[in-house]
Amino acid sequence: MILIKDLKHHEGESVTLKGWLYNKRSSGKVKFLIMRDGTGLVQLIVFKGNVTPEVFETADSLGRETSFEITGNVKKEERAIGGYEVDVADLKVISESHDYPITPKEHGTEFLMDHRHLWLRSKRQWAIMRIRHRIVKAIRDFFDERDFTLFDPPIITPNAVEGTSTLFETEYFDLGSAYLTQSGQLYAEAGAMALNKVYTFGPTFRAEKSKTRRHLTEFWMVEPEVAFYDLNDDMDLAEEFLEYIVQSVLKDRAEELKILERDTSKLELVKRPFPRISYTEAVEILHKNGVDFEWGEDFGAPDETIISNQFDRPVMVHRYPAAVKAFYMKRDPENEKLALAVDVLAPEGYGEIIGGSQREDELDKLLERIKEHNLPKQYFEWYLDLRRYGSVPHAGFGLGLERTVTWICGIDHLRETIPFPRMIYRNTP
Ligand code: 4AD
Ligand code: MG
Repeated sequence: MILIKDLKHHEGESVTLKGWLYNKRSSGKVKFLIMRDGTGLVQLIVFKGNVTPEVFETADSLGRETSFEITGNVKKEERAIGGYEVDVADLKVISESHDYPITPKEHGTEFLMDHRHLWLRSKRQWAIMRIRHRIVKAIRDFFDERDFTLFDPPIITPNAVEGTSTLFETEYFDLGSAYLTQSGQLYAEAGAMALNKVYTFGPTFRAEKSKTRRHLTEFWMVEPEVAFYDLNDDMDLAEEFLEYIVQSVLKDRAEELKILERDTSKLELVKRPFPRISYTEAVEILHKNGVDFEWGEDFGAPDETIISNQFDRPVMVHRYPAAVKAFYMKRDPENEKLALAVDVLAPEGYGEIIGGSQREDELDKLLERIKEHNLPKQYFEWYLDLRRYGSVPHAGFGLGLERTVTWICGIDHLRETIPFPRMIYRNTP
């Protein structure tokens, strides 16, 4: 047996393929079957004169998504899907499929989401999952090649990291409440003090109460954290990282991007250096574009679109008002009102894909912040220890995987970028 993706190495040979029926059409004495096997699509020609009457009959009656096996001869055929065709000599059904719910006609999104377990078999979903995987590989390769150690934080945690409004709470035996992690960052900081350069990569959870195209309640985040880095080092790392991811996908996933009709010229532009502007400069851009925006507010999605539309590559917006950012961010020594934070906004209106910062490394200041934010100090004692025993400047960021996949695929909604999305109104299938 061979895989459809390897047909090109078997021209002129007799091969066996196993897969599922994607589509079929017939014209008298010939049946054209499109088989998919998860690695590609191929047209199979069942010619009445070449097979037994039983096989011809079977080919005629196959329902969509029937699993079957064929043996036949591989021919080059420029016009066929994938560039090759197979002349069938024999065909056996593995398991029948009748009335497959997803048909070539248009289905509504809710219907497709209810059938997500089957929808994943379609060409478009196939392409997205393959691109997601290539992005994950690029993420791992990037950090592994640069001496980062993978560091796995806990998912069950006693406290909030990114504000208390989006916590998933659960009872934890006799210890009271526990929460699903919103970010592995605080643990990554302990990791950076032990291993210098670390990254976490795993699922994170936010009880997002709004229904938007950009929010999942369960999403994957990769978070590098580096000892002795300041905000500039952090931005240099983010920029090199994004260029690496995008260029890896362009190199290895051209076919998938084509299926998605992605305008790849926009992705070709994702090369260093990226523009760096301060929050204050970003606010000036909004004002120039007629937006009524007050300095000190956080940007909404439409604001991010206007800002990112000024540039042809991702833009790094740094030094936000500390009041709209997390408790752990270091203040700008030149202006205490500002946090040494950076958000990276993707082009083409895709908005924030990275959030990061230099961390507060002074014990007294961090204690003050924990108080201001009304956080339960006892759960942060271990985190404060990192400032008690040889504290050093350090910085890191978090990249949202699904937001990155959405942008690189050029699609509208995060829900198609993860096998089984979790959102406010959906926790099935
Ligand atoms: O900006 P955020 O909240 O930053 C952090 O969690 C930091 N602790 C990261 C760090 O410095 N180590 O989230 C980081 C990224 C966002 O830019 C976005 O891409 C993604 O995570 N993200 C979400 N993706 C999907 N659904 C959601 N509900 C998301 N919330 C954040
Ligand atoms: Mg953020």
